[in-house]
Amino acid sequence: MLSGAGFVAAEDEAQELLDCAALRGEPLGALVERRLSGEPLAWITGQTLFCGLEIHVDRGVYVPRWQSEPLARRAVERLPGTGIAIDLCTGSGAIATMLASSRPDARVVASEIDGRAVECAAGNGVEVYGGDLFDPLPPAITGLVDVVVGVVPYVPTPALPMLPRDTFEFESELAYDGGPDGARVLRRVVAESPSLLRLGGALLLELGGDQADVLTHDLSRFGFRDVTVLEDEDGDVRGIEATLGERK
Ligand SMILES: C[S@@+](CC[C@H](N)C(=O)[O-])C[C@H]1O[C@@H](n2cnc3c(N)ncnc32)[C@H](O)[C@@H]1O
Repeated sequence: MLSGAGFVAAEDEAQELLDCAALRGEPLGALVERRLSGEPLAWITGQTLFCGLEIHVDRGVYVPRWQSEPLARRAVERLPGTGIAIDLCTGSGAIATMLASSRPDARVVASEIDGRAVECAAGNGVEVYGGDLFDPLPPAITGLVDVVVGVVPYVPTPALPMLPRDTFEFESELAYDGGPDGARVLRRVVAESPSLLRLGGALLLELGGDQADVLTHDLSRFGFRDVTVLEDEDGDVRGIEATLGERK
C-alpha cells in the first residue's frame, strides 16, 4: 500500500509501522491510514533515529532530518570534553542529545520557543529552556561557551509554499519561516552569539542557497573568522562554521 502511494522507503516504513502496531496493540490499518494521509512517520511511531540515536518525537514537533547530522558531528568535534555547548532552536533536542551522548562530561544546554517541543526535548533528557533564542539560557554560561549550534528556521517566506504539501498540513511554519530572505533568525544568531561564546569558540549554523554569502558581512562585523561553508556530497551549501576572534 505504501509503495503504491509512492513512499520511497516503503518497506522500511511498513516494518516500523508493523513493529509499532505490535508493541502498542493498535490496529495496523489505522497507523497505515495516518501515514497515507502524509503524517510524519516519526509522529506515528513516536521516534526517529538521529546519528544512530533513538530520539522521541512528539506529535507537532519538528522531525530531525538526516541532512542535519553532519552539522551535529562537526559540533561534537568542536566541543571539548568538559566544554559547554548551546543547541539553539532544539526542537525534539536531537542535536543536543547527540552532543551530550558524544561528550558526556560537557554541559549542553538548549533553547526552544514552542512549548510542545520544549516538553519533548526535556523528555529526551535535554537541559532545555523555553523562550526566544539566547534569552532563556542561564546567565552563568555567558562568555564561556565553546560551541553554538543551530538548525534555526531559514526558509525564505516566499519559498514556504514550495515546501512539500504535507509539511504545513502537519508541521508549523514556526520551524521553517526565516523571513523575506530566510536569514532573519540567522542574522540574529550571528549578532547575539559573540556575547555567549569564548574567544576561539565555534558557531555552526545550518543554512542553504546563498545565505552563507548573505551572512559574510555580519560574521566579520561581529568578530568571526575562519568562516567555512559546509557542503554536502552534491556540492550543495548546507551550513557555515565560524570561529570567534577579536572584534575588528
Ligand atoms: C527547523 S526546526 C529544527 C529543530 C531541531 N534543531 C532539529 O534539527 O531537529 C526549528 C525549531 O526552531 C524553533 N524556533 C523557531 N523560532 C525560534 C526562536 N526564536 N527561538 C527558539 N526556538 C525557535 C521551532 O519551534 C522549531 O522547533
